[in-house]
Amino acid sequence: MALAPTRERTAARPPSPAPTPSRGFWSSTLGKKTVMAVSGLIMLGYLVAHVAGNLKVFFGPEEFNAYGHWLRVMGAPVLHHHWALWIVRTVLLAAVVAHAVSAYQLSRRDLKARPTAYVHRRRRASYATRTMRWGGIILALFIVWHLLDLTTGTAHPGGFEEGKPYQNVVDTFSTWYGNAVYIVAMLALGLHVRHGFWSAAQTLGVGNARRERLLRTLADTLALVLTAGFVSVPVAVMTGVVS
Ligand code: HEM
Repeated sequence: MALAPTRERTAARPPSPAPTPSRGFWSSTLGKKTVMAVSGLIMLGYLVAHVAGNLKVFFGPEEFNAYGHWLRVMGAPVLHHHWALWIVRTVLLAAVVAHAVSAYQLSRRDLKARPTAYVHRRRRASYATRTMRWGGIILALFIVWHLLDLTTGTAHPGGFEEGKPYQNVVDTFSTWYGNAVYIVAMLALGLHVRHGFWSAAQTLGVGNARRERLLRTLADTLALVLTAGFVSVPVAVMTGVVS
C-alpha cells in the first residue's frame, strides 16, 4: 500500500506548543537553580527577621508578647488586622513550594545525568546533594511541627495560650523533646543555610576571587548567627535565664 504524502501523515500529529521564553526558563537547569536561589534568599530574609524577633524573649514577657501582637497589626491603619501577616505567609508559602519543587526536579535531573549506572548498582548523588536533601526534609518536617506547636497550638505541650507567645515558648522548652527537636532542626538549618547561600551565590554570579571569599565568609556568618540565635532560646529556658 502506498504511503500518504508526507504533509498528510504529519498533519495527524497534535501541534506541539510553541516555546515561550518563560517555559524555556523554567525547564532549563539554570532557570530551576535561579528559582531555588531566589526562593532560598526570600526564606533567609524571613529567618533573619524571625531570629531578631525571637531574641526579644530576653527582654521579658511584656515585650515579647507585644511583639507577637504587633505581627498581627503591622501595616495598620493602612492595612486591616492580619493582612500584612497573611501577605508574608503567602509569599513564604510560595517560596517554600517553589524551592521544594525545583530541588526535587533538579535532583531527578542530576541522578538521570550520572553516567555511573554500570559501575555501581545504584546511582548515588554527591555528599553535598544528599546533605542538602536530608536537611531540607528535616526542615520541612520541623516547620509543620513548629506551626502546630507555636502557631495553632495543636501539638503544644500544656495549655496553648492565644496571644501569649512568651508563655508558649517557655512551655515548649520545658520538655526534653521540645529542646531536642528544635536543637537538631537548628543544626540542620545552619548546615543548609551555609551550603545553600553559597550555591545561590554561585548561581546568581560570584564574580571575582575576592567576592568569592567575601560570600563564603558571609555564608558562614549567616549560618552561625542564625543557629546560635535560634538555639539561645531553648538554652535560656533550660538554664532558667528565661522562665
Ligand atoms: C528556637 C527557634 C524558634 C523559636 C523559639 C520560634 C518561635 C516562634 C513563635 C513564638 C512563633 C509564633 C509567633 C506568633 O504567632 O506570635 C513562630 C512562628 C513561626 N516560625 Fe518560628 N521559631 C523558631 C525557629 C523557626 C525556624 C527555624 C523557622 C523556619 C525554618 C521558623 C518558622 C516560623 C514560621 C513560618 C512561623 C509562622 C509565622 C506565622 O505565619 O504566624 N521558626 N516561631
